[in-house]
Amino acid sequence: MYQLIAEDKFNNLRKNHKKQDIIILAIESSCDETSVAIVKNGREVLSNIISSQIEIHKRFGGVVPEVASRNHVLAIDNVVNEALEKSGVTLKDIHAIAVTYGAGLVGALMVGVTYAKSLAYALEIPLIKVNHIKGHISANYIAYPELTPPFVGLVVSGGHTAIVKVEDYMKHTLISTTTDDAIGECYDKVAKVLGLGYPGGPIIDKLATEGSYNTNFIKHTNKAKKDLSISYSGLKTAVINYLHNKKQHNEEININDVCASFQCEAVDPLVDKVVYSAKKSRCKRIVVAGGVAANKYLRTKLAETAKLEGIEVFFPPMVYCTDNAAMIGCEAYYNLINGEGLADLTLTANPNINLKYSKK
Ligand code: KG4
Ligand code: ZN
Repeated sequence: MYQLIAEDKFNNLRKNHKKQDIIILAIESSCDETSVAIVKNGREVLSNIISSQIEIHKRFGGVVPEVASRNHVLAIDNVVNEALEKSGVTLKDIHAIAVTYGAGLVGALMVGVTYAKSLAYALEIPLIKVNHIKGHISANYIAYPELTPPFVGLVVSGGHTAIVKVEDYMKHTLISTTTDDAIGECYDKVAKVLGLGYPGGPIIDKLATEGSYNTNFIKHTNKAKKDLSISYSGLKTAVINYLHNKKQHNEEININDVCASFQCEAVDPLVDKVVYSAKKSRCKRIVVAGGVAANKYLRTKLAETAKLEGIEVFFPPMVYCTDNAAMIGCEAYYNLINGEGLADLTLTANPNINLKYSKK
């Protein structure tokens, strides 16, 4: 019975979206942030509450999946209530529930998915499943009201590194993705070995500004612009070996210089590849997404390099770089008005969903 009602409401919302406001309650729990947002018509954020577990995971040097799941369970009810309170709307005003169902940590995702299913069932409203990676890209629609596809997207987070052609709101074609580690994961691992704590990205970003690029950790990987392959495990191992070597020989390590050098080698090739991809697909816009989009060096380097080619670059504001539910509400809206993403109560977490290469 629920499913018939939800389907009916979904189709009506889709048909009438130009005539009526659509308010979505979105839930994000894929990693270590419990977040709930209330989003109106895809791009207007009425509230976006983020409860971060970073302080809890810091002492373990990274996210511990089981600890993350437990803390989502503890936080989610309060975060939902706070999001509603801040937005000024009540549960009766909500037209649909959106939830991240992948990619991410399975237990963490399950908390959000289960909560979202219960809420959608109790309110008899549609449940919309959202791909976290597409959600990150949508963060830019919130920040830039005029932004519409097509463009080339660069997704750089703790779990993903991908260059993708966004042809339409619903059509994402993978151009290239990492064959091993994600860029954020690499930042976090290098920071761990340097004893800088978790998460590593922001600390390396900061220390790098005090250092200089004077060490070549790796010679060829990621170098050629036209070779679009992306890999981070070689760079990670090269930095770790360099540090071990220095320690064995009792040589001094200049941490700021290591951070600056590592950062250049992690970012420069990616910048070249994404600019080359945009040129090749005749796209004049690059849209960056994910936690590493907060990186100052990446922001400057990509903006400068793209400008030389007459390409405009969009970065989300800091609050929409790392995980948040507003981006999930935005992505869900575009799913809904295009008739996609309606889930039923059998929805479950899918930790490994990715973007697909074009079949062409
Ligand atoms: O998007 P996100 O919050 O979670 C995932 O979906 O993975 O990204 C988290 C990642 C972490 O690896 C963190 O170290 C990295 O984003 N990060 C940064 C910066 N701020 C966060 N990396 C480089 N520079 C930063 N300023
Ligand atoms: Zn993320």
